[in-house]
Amino acid sequence: MYTLKRLLVVLAMCCFMNTLLAQENPELGTTISEEDLAPWDISIQPNGSGLPPGSGSVSDGEVIYQQKCIACHGVEGTEGPYDVLVSNQLQQVRAIGSYWPYASTVFDYIRRAMPFNLPQSLTDDEVYAVTAYLLYRNGIISEDSIMTANSLANVEMPNESGFDLAYPTEKSMEEMSE
Ligand code: HEC
Repeated sequence: MYTLKRLLVVLAMCCFMNTLLAQENPELGTTISEEDLAPWDISIQPNGSGLPPGSGSVSDGEVIYQQKCIACHGVEGTEGPYDVLVSNQLQQVRAIGSYWPYASTVFDYIRRAMPFNLPQSLTDDEVYAVTAYLLYRNGIISEDSIMTANSLANVEMPNESGFDLAYPTEKSMEEMSE
């Protein structure tokens, strides 16, 4: 009896699958509009492609940091209670200066995820500014720097060469064998 029931279930599933496969698509949902997609389409590549227009200075970033970040990352950025954000290359602490390979990723991360309690509440200019401040505090850019799509993409991070690519490209393979 049990086996017969199972056979019937399998047969029913096969009929259902056949109907699905006969159609070109399952005809569910609607195509997303450009406007609805835009808030999700915020990824920035290591070379800076995807960075939005706008700019921010180290000094503006300091104000934003003090208002919106110190509660969780500390006045100095070194003492928590949550993640340490400031280190120099010599310290054995995982932070922006010692670990992150691309400055554009710092922008991407802050824009999509911080402040932790209110993600995506900062304007692009504010994200440029607070990114500039954190890069400055990590000893990577000077105090009078202004970050824009162009200048941020050109920041060289100390640990850029500290990573192995999980999926090497042809170009990176060539570079490795040189
Ligand atoms: C309410 C607490 C809170 C506030 C406020 C906050 N953060 Fe964070 N932040 C966190 C936590 C928690 C993490 C770790 C998140 C994780 O690992 O998923 C984090 C992680 C980060 C990281 C990644 C650190 C690393 O190396 O992995 C950066 C950069 C960062 N925050 C920047 C900021 C900035 C800039 C602000 C202010 C605009 C801010 N955060 C405000 C809690 C906070």
